[in-house]
Amino acid sequence: MNILLCGGAGFIGTHTIIELDKAGHSVVVVDNFFNSKPEALKRVSELIGKEVKCYNADVRDRDAMEKIFGENQFDAVIHYAGLKSVGESVAKPLEYYENNMVATFVLVDVMRKHGCKNIIFSSSATVYGDPAMIPITEECPKGYCTNPYGQTKWMLEEVLKDVHHADPEWNVVLLRYFNPIGAHPSGKIGEDPNGIPNNLMPYITQVAVGKREELGVFGNDYDTPDGTGVRDYIHVCDLAAGHVCALKAIERNCGLAVYNLGTGHGYSVLDVVKAFEKANGIKIKYSIKPRRAGDIATCYCNPAKAKAELGWEAHYGIEEMCRDSWNWQKNNPNGYED
Ligand SMILES: NC(=O)c1ccc[n+]([C@@H]2O[C@H](COP(=O)([O-])OP(=O)(O)OC[C@H]3O[C@@H](n4cnc5c(N)ncnc54)[C@H](O)[C@@H]3O)[C@@H](O)[C@H]2O)c1
Repeated sequence: MNILLCGGAGFIGTHTIIELDKAGHSVVVVDNFFNSKPEALKRVSELIGKEVKCYNADVRDRDAMEKIFGENQFDAVIHYAGLKSVGESVAKPLEYYENNMVATFVLVDVMRKHGCKNIIFSSSATVYGDPAMIPITEECPKGYCTNPYGQTKWMLEEVLKDVHHADPEWNVVLLRYFNPIGAHPSGKIGEDPNGIPNNLMPYITQVAVGKREELGVFGNDYDTPDGTGVRDYIHVCDLAAGHVCALKAIERNCGLAVYNLGTGHGYSVLDVVKAFEKANGIKIKYSIKPRRAGDIATCYCNPAKAKAELGWEAHYGIEEMCRDSWNWQKNNPNGYED
């Protein structure tokens, strides 16, 4: 298939390109490089041994999207393009609603005009808010998100469901990612956050490489085995492979389908710190800080539906995730910058 990756220059998109290429698909990327760098695609091109075709454009720009669809014939779109920082979304709700919603409206409208009715959407575990059940199944109540970022994901899921209901020719696959970490084992591509990382693993690797003094652990009084927050960390290469399986579902005309993509295992912040230390032989200095507003105690999924229907499951364990995250960071202390 020929696939358009909106936001394909980012952390998950770049890893997905490699999996799509392995599976024999061809890809075109559109990205405005708001949260990524052209260097990432250059590295992917080196890894797959062919140039990744990329348009430097904003998905909200209808003329640009018309041009891209005019110049290419796409079988499906994978839509990653969005702003993704939970904390920032609380401070800048308008920017988050505007970017994430408008980009999707323009994309889906241009897709239907060009007869491309297959979309995989990057949703998130945040749609479950403070989850009513653990492990989280796809049926768990949703839509009580604690932040604007999560709201955009939930609202866009609803929009895409309605698009499918109005025209059942649409295949819509909603993938609810849990917590992607790790990096491609080559150490050539990985997560490259701007400024102070919001997420645990980039923070740990920046402490390990000497860019940050210590890790702040936000709260050790949660109702979890060691008091720190528990999450479902998944290797980004496993997550990337999930998109290839989702494309197969689209080829089978799956209609509307929703999947959790996680490992089904919960690790606390301190579990991850210990696993990182063990995998890489590096001590991580940390201190306990107050809880962060909006954080929840425990979040991990039941990934059985993805296994049963997509034939997908995660293979990498936490030590490999820690090894590959560090391999990327130590080879690229400043990310994609020289
Ligand atoms: N990384 C995570 O922890 C996580 C978890 C759950 C869901 N998600 C979702 O998965 C998707 C990909 O996440 P990621 O970690 O790769 O993020 P990322 O920021 O690395 O990648 C997103 C890409 O989209 C681009 N982009 C944003 N708005 C755009 C626009 N209007 N036009 C064109 N390009 C635009 C950015 O420049 C970036 O390259 C996002 O939608 C995110 O919300 C991520």
